[in-house]
Amino acid sequence: MDKKEREQTLVLIKPDALKNSLTGYLLSQLSEFHTGLHFSGTKIVYVGKMLAEEHYAEHRGKVFFPSLLDYIMGRIHYTDQPWMQRVSALVYQGPDAIKKIREIAGPTNPHVARANKPGCIRALGTLVPLKDAEGNIIGERMDNLIHASATPSEAEREIKLWFKPSDIPPLMHAYPTAINKDYYYLKDNKLCMTPEPGNICFLAPGDIAWASDLETLRRLNQGVQTSCSLEAIVAKYLINEIQGNH
Ligand code: RTP
Ligand code: MG
Repeated sequence: MDKKEREQTLVLIKPDALKNSLTGYLLSQLSEFHTGLHFSGTKIVYVGKMLAEEHYAEHRGKVFFPSLLDYIMGRIHYTDQPWMQRVSALVYQGPDAIKKIREIAGPTNPHVARANKPGCIRALGTLVPLKDAEGNIIGERMDNLIHASATPSEAEREIKLWFKPSDIPPLMHAYPTAINKDYYYLKDNKLCMTPEPGNICFLAPGDIAWASDLETLRRLNQGVQTSCSLEAIVAKYLINEIQGNH
């Protein structure tokens, strides 16, 4: 498979799309017949806080960030139905995958989408005003149905955040993998290499992992600064393991 054919992008079918039974519509808009792209990974994911915060790390500190986390975690659309709090995560693959899916998704803001690109997926979204304790409008949340990676580096970061290599058929891997040789545990949200009661083992010898994750873990273990956080590696190993406050 050449490099062009190997281009991948992450798509999330967000909780508002699930709530409105738009999954079939979205998948048909993105179908191989329409886009020339094909799936290389699909999963239904309970989005915990760690995964949500890592996915939207660039928006940390903005006024809409807490509401954005609640939205992607399904807490807005399935407030009283925690078992329904989930998103559908997909990896699409093929020539110009990133650009093609961004085009079909449309502008971030649903009002702009309706005005400038009627017919795109996000034209079906909504804007929700955000208020402070006194009722003053302080911002807005954009419930826009779908996430799609914007650039190749964003796609790589996001696919490695949501998917383990073993979630994707080996011949469809777009990024290098390696066999892990060590035990890695999470203890009080810190990296730990020794088994102790209460530690969560997220990688064991023989597991296949993204090569860049193993390099980051090696550096973190040596106390060296890394651009990728421990949380960005661990979050995918906790997916659907527990539904709680992680
Ligand atoms: P996405 O990542 O979801 O595909 O959206 P995008 O690239 O078009 O936009 P991005 O800047 O990455 O924002 C991610 C999500 O954050 C929410 N957002 N709200 N209120 C605001 O000003 C604002 N800006 C961004 C949206 O839900 C957006 O999809
Ligand atoms: Mg984005």
